[in-house]
Amino acid sequence: MVRLIRTTQEIISLRETQGKEVGFVPTMGNLHAGHISLLNEALKNCKIIYFSIFVNPKQFGPNEDFKSYPRTLEEDVKKIEIASLAYPDKEIFVYAPQKPEEVFSEGHNETVIVAGLNDILEGKIRPGHFDGVSTVVHRLFEIIRPAKAYFGLKDFQQYRVIEKMVADLQMQIEIVGMPIIRETSGLAMSSRNQYLSEKEREEALTLKRALDAVKKIIDGKRENIIKAKNYIHEVRSDKRWNYLEIRDALTLSSEITESSHLTLLGVFQLRSTRLLDNMQVELK
Ligand code: PAF
Repeated sequence: MVRLIRTTQEIISLRETQGKEVGFVPTMGNLHAGHISLLNEALKNCKIIYFSIFVNPKQFGPNEDFKSYPRTLEEDVKKIEIASLAYPDKEIFVYAPQKPEEVFSEGHNETVIVAGLNDILEGKIRPGHFDGVSTVVHRLFEIIRPAKAYFGLKDFQQYRVIEKMVADLQMQIEIVGMPIIRETSGLAMSSRNQYLSEKEREEALTLKRALDAVKKIIDGKRENIIKAKNYIHEVRSDKRWNYLEIRDALTLSSEITESSHLTLLGVFQLRSTRLLDNMQVELK
């Protein structure tokens, strides 16, 4: 059963009648297979699932695509209904607030800042972005009070920011990170892929290919990192790269001499579309 709810008050009342064991999938809508993989995992593990669709104004910069971000609620609900057909005994509540004031009351002025992770990599290029993300996720957690929440690992830095927020604030919520879902070409699924032309879709593969190449060069061996860094230096002469970095997988620090798990993070930009991807590397 899928039920669409447009007000926060209704969610709060509903939650008073339910136990703690609910799963939560936060999204900004315009659903693709990546989002549905989060829903499927929640369906497998939880009896009651909340699925939010909210384009959060706080995480967009002044010159970003907040206004034009694709809003496709009707199609999204259909996709959720189709995914839930295999789980007839589960209850799914789609929380799609009609306006931002449903989430942030008028004059709302609190910001949750995950210091140290909010101003590096994506946060350096998009100042305030992660503060907007942590603030909305914190607020959604307050409203929904889930036991588990599901996030895609494509936005790896976001996943680490949320994980850190939950740990720091001792929120009793399990953060589940789900693998990147890719198109057959290898391109990581993203709502923003639809902005790409056919030619750009081909160019976009540069991102995944570079990550694959760096991973192959490292080959699980610390002594190869220097070679990988040289390769990155060469690749980065293409100005379409915003960044391509080797970081510690846990802290996202560039200090990796003691790291056993690395994350390769890249952003490749085609016109105004910034494509994000990442890959994990374990050192032997
Ligand atoms: O990943 C997203 O879609 C958003 O950043 C999130 C987590 C739903 C917060 O608005």
